[in-house]
Amino acid sequence: MKKEIDGEELNIPEHVAIIMDGNGRWAKKRLMPRNFGHKAGANTVEQICEDAYNLGIKYLTVYAFSTENWKRSVEEVTGIMNLLRKYLSNAYERASANNMRVRVIGDRSALDADIVELIDKLEKDTEVFDGLHFTIALNYGGRDEIKRAVQDIAERVKSGELEPADIDEKLISATLDTKELPDPDLMIRTSGEYRISNYLIWQLAYTEYYFTDVLWPDFDIEELKRAIRYYNGRDRRYGGVK
Ligand code: FPP
Repeated sequence: MKKEIDGEELNIPEHVAIIMDGNGRWAKKRLMPRNFGHKAGANTVEQICEDAYNLGIKYLTVYAFSTENWKRSVEEVTGIMNLLRKYLSNAYERASANNMRVRVIGDRSALDADIVELIDKLEKDTEVFDGLHFTIALNYGGRDEIKRAVQDIAERVKSGELEPADIDEKLISATLDTKELPDPDLMIRTSGEYRISNYLIWQLAYTEYYFTDVLWPDFDIEELKRAIRYYNGRDRRYGGVK
């Protein structure tokens, strides 16, 4: 999709994936506890959803909690889970105003039962919206997602539903948590870290990466536009020659 932004005709990436990093450092700079940074980060997510929608982005996927994040202190994990509870409980109103469908990817088996209920309800209630497809990666790890998909496929082979020769890239993509989403066109990571950290490792194979030093709570529409301008400067060849 093409759109004029600040007088410039730009190609808008259909799917943007974000690693929202730097909440802890943002709080530390203000001599505040880490959870203060996560709270500010949660506000930024809400604003960026609206901005992304207005810019014409169709899919936005954010990394809220990784399978490795359980290693953090109980206080911090509880703080993030409470922010997610609050978000999931209140998101419907904004979702209906912004025509936003919400999905959650990741392994739900380790989440508290009330959070799983909130996720199920929000996913169901927003199923009819198709403006912005907003996906939250929660207790998500790319390797864990692939492991679960491999187990699923192995069961289907064992039951005789599939032959090993039926396993191709399409089937694997269709077995991942992201089966309903196109692969990301642009991946943004904030806070000056140059890693993928187990995020969407299958899906990011041909994605353009944009790294910025800005800490997540400070990320705003101007930063998002900067990332889109960078994306427009890239020449996507998917391994071929143009
Ligand atoms: C990374 O910063 C951030 C996280 C691990 C948590 C992200 C969670 C939220 C923004 C809140 C909830 C999300 C939604 C969808 C409402 P960090 O803590 O690793 O920062 P640091 O590297 O500076 O320590």
